[in-house]
Amino acid sequence: MWKGLIEEYKSFLPVTEKTPALTLNEGNTPLIHLVNLSKELGIELYGKIEGANPTGSFKDRGMVFAVAKAIEDGSKCVICASTGNTSAAAAAYAARAGIQSIVVIPKGKVALGKLAQATMYGAKIIEIDGNFDDALNIVRQVSETSPVALVNSVNPYRIEGQKTASFEIVDALGKSPDYLCIPVGNAGNITAYWKGFKEYHEAKQCGTPKMYGFEAEGAAAIVTGTPIAQPETVATAIRIGNPASWKLAEAARDESGGIIDAVTDEEILAAYQLIASREGIFVEPGSAASLAGVIKSVKSGKIEKGSQVVTVFTGNGLKDPDTAMDVSTVEVKSLKNDEAEIRAYIEGVL
Ligand code: F0G
Repeated sequence: MWKGLIEEYKSFLPVTEKTPALTLNEGNTPLIHLVNLSKELGIELYGKIEGANPTGSFKDRGMVFAVAKAIEDGSKCVICASTGNTSAAAAAYAARAGIQSIVVIPKGKVALGKLAQATMYGAKIIEIDGNFDDALNIVRQVSETSPVALVNSVNPYRIEGQKTASFEIVDALGKSPDYLCIPVGNAGNITAYWKGFKEYHEAKQCGTPKMYGFEAEGAAAIVTGTPIAQPETVATAIRIGNPASWKLAEAARDESGGIIDAVTDEEILAAYQLIASREGIFVEPGSAASLAGVIKSVKSGKIEKGSQVVTVFTGNGLKDPDTAMDVSTVEVKSLKNDEAEIRAYIEGVL
């Protein structure tokens, strides 16, 4: 039986005798061969389904370790800024560990499912008239003087936990893929994956991929080279104008021979619908940025035909039902509670 990240990967993590055995059995997520899109794009494409984690996003990997280390250090409360998923994961692991969580979120810009999660797990929720970057600045300062442990990805234990996804990809494929495509928001995850690939290569000579990161065009600070004061995108998860791990993301890009590029909201929403309708995988819009990036890169020749590509689907589509219903063109047909009428309709559409 899978025992969760801390137990399974302790030889790769700074675990001590005092680290609590915290887990919600996170990790060990599916790597799915995207057979239909592979054929269409002329590449060998896989999706890493991070929405299969306990709170429905990759954040569980980093949060299990960040919360465990906070407890090891004597903390009774964790705090984070969030566009939604970090807050859900922090609240869940704090609940599991029996400590308090406080989350600071941008008002009106967190998807409904994520907010529902934080409330159910029992977080203290603070919303501000500001964006994620403002919230992160505030919690960074508060955590310096108040007895609360900061669990945003500026906490190195978050990166340690999240790097384990790279190990799972290499184990599933038997080696590193040619390309690793990933959405970029605060840039912690691209940093973590690159660290994971490098460490696994050192241990197992499995090779390393080219790291391809994708920001939303309205929040593309790294791509444009300047922080964005008012980031805007339909992909609220990555609506971030001044990524905390900016320099580390650039290092991942440069060391691996990769790129960081931007994708438009139109490209994100097209990929969002495509992955659900062609492969039966429902991801949240922020996650679809990576697939939008794959499609863009294949078209421009930045990913060659025949390449082996892994795209990370960072969060579950159920987290953001509003966007799904907004973009959906499917009409729910309302009929009478009557077999003959329903049969006639069905025979008409077949
Ligand atoms: N995808 C999803 C679904 C996310 O929630 C995030 C970040 C990212 C991608 C980008 O990852 O920040 O490491 O570059 N969400 C954070 C949050 C900011 O608060 O939940 P990153």
